[in-house]
Amino acid sequence: MKNEVKKIALLTGGGDCSGLNAVIRAIVKSSILKYGYKVVGFKGGYHGLYTDDYINMDLSSVSGIFHQGGTILKMSNKDNLFHYRTTDEKGNVVFKDVSDVAIENLKKHKIDVLIIIGGDGTLTSARDFARKGVNVIGIPKTIDNDVPATEITFGYRTALDHIMLSLDALHTTAFSHDRVMILEVMGRNAGWLALEGGIAGSADVILIPEIPYDINSVAKTIIDRYNRGSRFSIVCISEGAKPVDGEVTIKRIDEESPDTVKLGGVGDILRKQLEEVVKPVTNQDIRVTNLGYIQRGGVTNTFDRVLGTKYGAYAVDMIDRNEFGRMVVIRNDRMDSVRIEEVVGSGATGQTSTGGARIVNPHGDLVNSAKDIGITFGD
Ligand code: F6P
Repeated sequence: MKNEVKKIALLTGGGDCSGLNAVIRAIVKSSILKYGYKVVGFKGGYHGLYTDDYINMDLSSVSGIFHQGGTILKMSNKDNLFHYRTTDEKGNVVFKDVSDVAIENLKKHKIDVLIIIGGDGTLTSARDFARKGVNVIGIPKTIDNDVPATEITFGYRTALDHIMLSLDALHTTAFSHDRVMILEVMGRNAGWLALEGGIAGSADVILIPEIPYDINSVAKTIIDRYNRGSRFSIVCISEGAKPVDGEVTIKRIDEESPDTVKLGGVGDILRKQLEEVVKPVTNQDIRVTNLGYIQRGGVTNTFDRVLGTKYGAYAVDMIDRNEFGRMVVIRNDRMDSVRIEEVVGSGATGQTSTGGARIVNPHGDLVNSAKDIGITFGD
């Protein structure tokens, strides 16, 4: 049966990445040009939905944004409206469920469907709004590429380009100074960024969360290379990597964020470890670069512009088919959707009803190919 949708809304939540504007542009264009829907964009993620901060989106509002990283709607990874951090009259921090305020705002604007673009935390709230009767469609977003049920998320490939180019650049200093250069990249639970970025950037050692590393194995690779005449080595390490007998490296605790634990600094830990076991043998200097937010920003590459367009346009088609409470996915290179209920909840625990975050298989083809050409994973 044809639905009666007239007006839709969208928001972007979580941390930014390349391709978000491509998704926004596709949603707005397809909604207006193909279906004649009116479109509203809530600003700053769920915060805008709560405070009713919005813009009406016409075709001109998405003109010229395709190539830009980030999101014209702004975003936040702090606001969980079902567990909203605020203060009481005495100034104490308290958490309240303010989701009904958001639902009232949707009713006030006569919004028929809400498209929510975000990672695990954002989509968990999308599931909770769906449970309260809101017609929700989710679009997965993360540079970590670890959302279950979908093969690839937009932003990932642009981030890989940054990693590859950074490793290319680090090679020149590594070679000129006979140094060991370590590049720390993002990837909390999954090592895709370090793995594919490291292979493309010709790293000698790749360390990922899925394969805890033995420092002696890493050191042996570097020393063997040195003895063979390769006087420099390049290491690409995920922020979520850890030694066999150790833990992940926590940079800080952010009490305001639903994701309180922020990782970072494992590259420095690795440098100290290598200075103890490699430097006495080879006398190489060891330097660390943390790529940080550079990998989330900049100009969106070809792949992510196309992928973002596919995700956005497909989400709008789902409205026409009344496919609500579902998230857009790509399987075998074909667009499809799954129930949001099945995929959320992987952030903190790595577990979902579909089996957890999409992590690297330590015995899979990609790792095996890398090992075949001499790349060490520290196992
Ligand atoms: O989830 C994507 C991600 O890029 C992680 O790899 C990283 O740990 C995190 O976001 C950092 O987010 P922020 O510092 O913006 O909270």
